[in-house]
Amino acid sequence: MMDSVDVKSSSGTYSITTGRSILEKKLIEIKKRLSFELCFLFVDENVWKHHKSRITHAFDTTGYTYQIRIIPAGEKSKSLSQWEELTDYLLASGVRRNTPLFALGGGVTGDLAGFAASTTLRGIPLIHIPTTLLAMVDSSIGGKTGVNHFTGKNLVGSFYQPLEVIADIDFLDTLPDREWTNGLSEILKYGAIRDEQIFEDAELFLKRGKPIEYLAELTELILKCAKIKADIVEEDEFEAGARAYLNFGHTFAHALEKVADFDLLSHGEAVYLGMLAAIKLSKLKDAEIDDSSIRRFRKLYSFQITGNTLNMENLLQAMKLDKKVVDKNYRFVLLQDWQQPVVTSVTNVGFIKKAWLTVINELS
Ligand SMILES: NC(=O)c1ccc[n+]([C@@H]2O[C@H](COP(=O)([O-])OP(=O)(O)OC[C@H]3O[C@@H](n4cnc5c(N)ncnc54)[C@H](O)[C@@H]3O)[C@@H](O)[C@H]2O)c1
Repeated sequence: MMDSVDVKSSSGTYSITTGRSILEKKLIEIKKRLSFELCFLFVDENVWKHHKSRITHAFDTTGYTYQIRIIPAGEKSKSLSQWEELTDYLLASGVRRNTPLFALGGGVTGDLAGFAASTTLRGIPLIHIPTTLLAMVDSSIGGKTGVNHFTGKNLVGSFYQPLEVIADIDFLDTLPDREWTNGLSEILKYGAIRDEQIFEDAELFLKRGKPIEYLAELTELILKCAKIKADIVEEDEFEAGARAYLNFGHTFAHALEKVADFDLLSHGEAVYLGMLAAIKLSKLKDAEIDDSSIRRFRKLYSFQITGNTLNMENLLQAMKLDKKVVDKNYRFVLLQDWQQPVVTSVTNVGFIKKAWLTVINELS
């Protein structure tokens, strides 16, 4: 079974397709649509380890000529030096304006490969093949690409839409437990800002066994989240308005990611903690909400950082460098109520410190 959602963008419409074992079918479609001789596959190291034969079989049997480059796993790969290496590699290997680049991996590979695709020869065709839950429901959709800078997360990048997003559920068979909760955070974010039904749908994560065992519900949830993200980015491709709501929890999360070691805190874990802080701040700004819809999932997270490693001044300083700071005030996506996000400047640093204390206490 194969299901898809279309996303309209200024550079054309692309589809996000989900389902089991869909890679070959989609590759055949793409081959008919595009004209090229060679293509490049940028593949996450762990995806290559687990799915090497599946990937090569899919590209071989559908008649592709390709070159593979393995991307070291982990957030540290989202760097300017990796981007430079990949650009050198593409240019030295005969890339042309029509040479497609396939990004097979999670958000790290997608953001990095996407940025390389957007800048090489001013843009080559990009196809996302997300292999983590987070990438399927979030990062592969909407065209944000980029790398980290020593001053903060995602500070160098571009808006560059893919030609296709192929979310083949087969890749999730090997997803480690921690990566399921990592993706769950972005799913809960959609529940908070857009659709309360998501909280109920996400209960499959609380059931016994791995989420992949609930295949039909999981696939439906992935598609529902992809549709929410698609709707929001269609409304506001370049983040002048509603798209900012997708950053719910992220001002806190990016600061946490900057302050904590990337290996000890994943993006999704930071987003989960960031949402708890954003809810606390919303309450301090008089919203009457309780955090039980999100807190119900707390037991699924086992954080590897502790509260006493977080220094309040460092956290506040890290937030100042976030892209969302447009003036000297701290800006946040807060909730006026569930599913009623609002972008607000907060001048009361005491409130922000209280919100951070929620996170620090959670980790103590
Ligand atoms: N562009 C966007 O709109 C957007 C949105 C949200 C997040 N992001 C970015 O996405 C990144 C996080 O993405 P992520 O959580 O996918 O992290 P990731 O890409 O680091 O993947 C997580 C881990 O899972 C491994 N992995 C990937 N697929 C696997 C599979 N099928 N089986 C086994 N292991 C597998 C990877 O090797 C890695 O160790 C962050 O850098 C974040 O900033 C971008």
